[in-house]
Amino acid sequence: MSRIFSLTELREGGPQDLPAVARIMQDAFDPRYGEAWTSAQCMGMLSLPGVWLTIASIDEADIGFALARVAGPEAELLLLATRPAARGRGVGGALLRAVIAEATGRGVIDLHLEVRAGNDAVRLYRREGFGKVGERRDYYRGNAGQLFDAQTFSRKLR
Ligand SMILES: CC(C)(COP(=O)(O)OP(=O)(O)OC[C@H]1O[C@@H](n2cnc3c(N)ncnc32)[C@H](O)[C@@H]1OP(=O)(O)O)[C@@H](O)C(=O)NCCC(=O)NCCS
Repeated sequence: MSRIFSLTELREGGPQDLPAVARIMQDAFDPRYGEAWTSAQCMGMLSLPGVWLTIASIDEADIGFALARVAGPEAELLLLATRPAARGRGVGGALLRAVIAEATGRGVIDLHLEVRAGNDAVRLYRREGFGKVGERRDYYRGNAGQLFDAQTFSRKLR
């Protein structure tokens, strides 16, 4: 009998997962908008205290990740991505809720994130209880030099 549903599995990632993260990121982010990070940026960030990586996989293939950082009562979702072929199946939502749960467990009160104005991900963030709290002009620089505004979203965890 063939399987109809494949479960998303989440696990904590580490430096050994950075090549997979780079592949997912390259696949997921449109270079026009300048939202993706370099591998060196990811590696540098992951080595800082309070930073954690969550990897999502389906049928043992890594298809998404979230990178977040906690500092005292505040945390920030730094990156969230799902491979295009695996989108719309709840992977991004599962990763986001895992970040919320981990941050809550670490005593975080406010969880923030920045997202490019116009990114469809805003819908996911609103659905998970985030509200817009600010704007940052010209925050992202695309591969052709164009600048894109960011919006700051936040959610209280307690
Ligand atoms: C945002 C992102 C992580 C969502 O991943 P996902 O696995 O499709 O997420 P889910 O299936 O849990 O939820 C999909 C929701 O996100 C929204 N969404 C955003 N981009 C989408 C896309 N390209 N395809 C499908 N849904 C998308 C949909 O509106 C959907 O909301 P709905 O269920 O109310 O219709 C994914 O689209 C992505 O990797 N985008 C590129 C990277 C990015 O911009 N990340 C966010 C900023 S760091």
